[in-house]
Amino acid sequence: MATFFDRINSEIHKFIEVRDAEEEVCELYSVYYSTNSKDRLNLVSQTKSELEIDIHSGTKPLNITIDQNPNINGELGQTGAVLWNSSVVMSNFFAHCTKEAWDLTNSNIIELGAGCGLVGITMHNLGAKRVVLTDQPRMMKLLARNTECNRVATKPRLLSKKKLGKDSSTIDNALLTAEYVWGYPPEDPRILAEPIDIVIASDCVYHEDVAMLLSSTLEDMCQSREDVPVVALVGQELRSDLVHQAFVKDLLDRNFNLYRIPVDPEIDRCHALYMMWLKETHKPTAA
Ligand SMILES: C[S@@+](CC[C@H](N)C(=O)[O-])C[C@H]1O[C@@H](n2cnc3c(N)ncnc32)[C@H](O)[C@@H]1O
Repeated sequence: MATFFDRINSEIHKFIEVRDAEEEVCELYSVYYSTNSKDRLNLVSQTKSELEIDIHSGTKPLNITIDQNPNINGELGQTGAVLWNSSVVMSNFFAHCTKEAWDLTNSNIIELGAGCGLVGITMHNLGAKRVVLTDQPRMMKLLARNTECNRVATKPRLLSKKKLGKDSSTIDNALLTAEYVWGYPPEDPRILAEPIDIVIASDCVYHEDVAMLLSSTLEDMCQSREDVPVVALVGQELRSDLVHQAFVKDLLDRNFNLYRIPVDPEIDRCHALYMMWLKETHKPTAA
């Protein structure tokens, strides 16, 4: 059976290869990026304590309820207490793509810096085999609350747990939360318990120090298996060209094959979505 990487690799000609950090940032920030406030997407309200997010996945929209904690947003280290536009952009992207090369049904996915958890929850709802949402310890309560109320088949699990027997553990195992602080080995054994197919991160590049920790953690996750490449997908709102450039340079220095997924500038001029995997064990074959 073709792996997620095989299917993505067969579509590689659709993506823009990034070879130089300065060129990439120059193209993004001088051609594509808009500082005009009317071009900025306004997809979430960070002042409400509950948000209803509709993700449009073709036939039937997914309706995901996300609790936020707007009162602590702005306090040091609490950025994940509210939802960021990038997570809606990424969720919609996966919802539109999954039917072809992006089928997630056999994938084990780790989300880094999940915050309120929208992207991982969306991937779970789109049929991913297993999703582990990770973040810093202080985010776990909110993250756990959001996963519990958006878990597929929550009702049967609660109503007939006894009858489900073995299956109930499968349902529980499909969507997990775990503490994972970048720069340290993951302490929760569930993070590496199954071979990882995909790593995701949304809007986690907002300061150079954080960006360097993230790139090193992406490298750790992507070298966690050798049989097939682990594919990382990182979505980012464009804010600082300097931080962005430092992040891209660090990824290239760490030997990632790096591709940007093109977005129609008529639709979005303030986010970038990257796909990457490590070079040393696997080389792209196509185009
Ligand atoms: C701007 S928020 C984005 C949250 C969410 N992904 C979204 O798009 O809505 C950045 C997230 O990265 C997490 N983060 C920052 N530094 C981290 C670290 N060293 N280890 C783990 N998570 C970290 C924060 O806790 C926060 O949840």
